[in-house]
Amino acid sequence: MADVSLKKVGKTYENASANTIEDLSLDIRSGEFVVLVGPSGCGKSTTLRMLAGLEELSEGEIWIANRRVDELEPRDRNIAMVFQNYALYPHMTVAQNMSFGLRLAGMDKAEIRRRVEEAAKLLDIAPLLDRRPKQLSGGQRQRVAMGRAMVRDPAVFLFDEPLSNLDAKLRGQMRAEIRRLHKRLKATTVYVTHDQVEAMTLADRVVVLNKGKIEQQGTPQELYERPATRFVAGFIGSPTMNFLPAKVVTESTRPALRIGEATIPVPAHKAETVLQRVGQDIEIGLRPEHFLVDGPADLSATIDMAELLGPTTLVHFTLAGMTCSAMLPPELAAPEGEVQSLRIAFDRMSIFDPKTGHAL
Ligand SMILES: Nc1ncnc2c1ncn2[C@@H]1O[C@H](COP(=O)(O)OP(=O)(O)OP(=O)(O)O)[C@@H](O)[C@H]1O
Ligand SMILES: [Mg+2]
Repeated sequence: MADVSLKKVGKTYENASANTIEDLSLDIRSGEFVVLVGPSGCGKSTTLRMLAGLEELSEGEIWIANRRVDELEPRDRNIAMVFQNYALYPHMTVAQNMSFGLRLAGMDKAEIRRRVEEAAKLLDIAPLLDRRPKQLSGGQRQRVAMGRAMVRDPAVFLFDEPLSNLDAKLRGQMRAEIRRLHKRLKATTVYVTHDQVEAMTLADRVVVLNKGKIEQQGTPQELYERPATRFVAGFIGSPTMNFLPAKVVTESTRPALRIGEATIPVPAHKAETVLQRVGQDIEIGLRPEHFLVDGPADLSATIDMAELLGPTTLVHFTLAGMTCSAMLPPELAAPEGEVQSLRIAFDRMSIFDPKTGHAL
């Protein structure tokens, strides 16, 4: 399976005022599952389409398995792409849809049948091979689209939001299935989504795009625990991270943070960083699970709203003028209108420069 390299890739669409993709370099290891995430319009589909050969590059190069491919036709790149809308031919059966590309390429009939049957078995759609797309559910259509990609035995799989047309339950099932398939096939995969749960659960590595540039890349855990910027911090994680304005002060010669009414010590590993900013404003980032209800409280807040999610309760309150949410054990969450004492897991908080948005 192939290594994929994007080298200083740029894309400017005709009539566009700004570059859609700028100086994008990315190396993907053979067998790796890379997920591209980012807000709508950040250039995820454009990047995939350039990889597939459906869109020309304005600058840079693309290499697959030590071969430069950006000048090659899509069919010569040994890549298969699965689209959000499946793009199945309505007048063909499932088997015909899956085998279409192979038949065009003039592959031996027996080999085509072998590949279609193997993929159908893996995807659990063998009984559907004679049906037409309109006789299938959304999830089944998605499987056929994946099967059509698999039979080509490509060096690289590209997925563009393949699950976004499915309902939440089916999305969860298909997500697990894609993970299972990847474990089995070990195919190099680039997967685009704006669903950060998909990104976190599927990826070996997540690449966060913002306005056509890589904002940060790393394992899901790295991005979640150590976001490099406020943008990544706010984008990864659901419910989203809480951002609070704070001022660095000193309290008996040790740095502390003033957040609203509360003054709290700075965790040791951040002390040096913030010591240079005494008297300055910073921004801290706390995830909903960084508020705890055991041990001595750091602050208290009146609960504006409590949402019972089942295993946890999400409470909303106002702190330093900002709306915050905390994920608490249901039996310890205060009801609406009552005061909740909260301890903050300061060792896990993020600190950002409010001007640049960079983590400190
Ligand atoms: N053919 C085109 N001509 C001109 N501009 C385009 C073209 N295709 C995309 N764009 C612009 O390029 C930018 C990136 O588009 P792209 O489709 O790559 O975004 P995306 O990250 O996939 O977004 P989404 O999450 O909404 O699918 C957008 O501003 C879009 O309007
Ligand atoms: Mg897109």
